[in-house]
Amino acid sequence: MRGRVLIIAGSDSGGGAGIQGDIKTVTALGGYAATAITALTAQNTETVADVMAVPPAFIARQIDVVLTDIGADCIKTGMLATAEVIDAMCDVLAAKARSIPIVVDPVMVAKSGARLLDPDAVATLKRRLVRIATVLTPNLPEAETLSGMTVRDSEDMRDVAAALLAAGPKAVLLKGGHLAGDVVHDVLATEDGIELFTSPRIETVHTHGTGCALASAIATGLAQNLPLRDAVERARAYVHEAIRLAPKLGHGHGPIEHGHTIRPSGPESVGSRPADTTTASDD
Ligand SMILES: Nc1ncnc2c1ncn2[C@@H]1O[C@H](COP(=O)(O)OP(=O)(O)OP(=O)(O)O)[C@@H](O)[C@H]1O
Ligand SMILES: [Mg+2]
Repeated sequence: MRGRVLIIAGSDSGGGAGIQGDIKTVTALGGYAATAITALTAQNTETVADVMAVPPAFIARQIDVVLTDIGADCIKTGMLATAEVIDAMCDVLAAKARSIPIVVDPVMVAKSGARLLDPDAVATLKRRLVRIATVLTPNLPEAETLSGMTVRDSEDMRDVAAALLAAGPKAVLLKGGHLAGDVVHDVLATEDGIELFTSPRIETVHTHGTGCALASAIATGLAQNLPLRDAVERARAYVHEAIRLAPKLGHGHGPIEHGHTIRPSGPESVGSRPADTTTASDD
């Protein structure tokens, strides 16, 4: 194990995104994942059926207690739900984690269309969290909301990434998964300039949790002392392979294969168990 990542995000009961996707990603890349859970969602590949909020003071308590004992080499934030949560989290981070890099995934809407951040929390997100981010990782709709600009192509992506960089984060990785075309573009903006990453688009509906995985993979890289560009490159390659190998679960936007870096071995591996001793209905 190398690199401690504290994930501050919501639980996805379907296991594809949120805390569950984040823990799998950090583990698959050799890091250690600790968590502060901001909300519970009753969720599958088709819908977010229900959300149960965690009181902001308890979210802050989880962060405080983990940092006091275990510590963290990088922090990753995902679903934050409300302005009160952002405020409580930023207060404890200011007190305990000033020098720890922070990857902010400004999650607003799930792939199924459900709102994961109150519209009136966007101003608080910009004022308190975007400014202190080491890396901000918006998708296109989030970048449009945060910047007030419109994105139609990869040229627009450069402009929006530059505009968001001017709002205070050290770097912006603008994700282009939502733009149509045979190629997906992600734009990295830092003080050194703007770089466009491209890869072939995989034709699939199984992209639930791609954004969470990308941000957690970048956070793991930073926790392992990779330079930002290398962390981004490895994260993109990890997510691309995870989309390619998606297990095709559920009837909606299915999860990706987070575990593709892990090779089960030995007689106890699931695939080699006799069928009559372990079946799904036994559990
Ligand atoms: N169909 C695809 N083929 C290849 N790469 C993809 C595809 N869809 C997304 N990606 C890549 O996955 C990463 C996440 O991008 P995306 O725009 O899907 O984020 P997101 O909207 O935040 O995801 P989520 O819905 O999980 O929050 C980016 O690096 C993007 O380029
Ligand atoms: Mg996202």
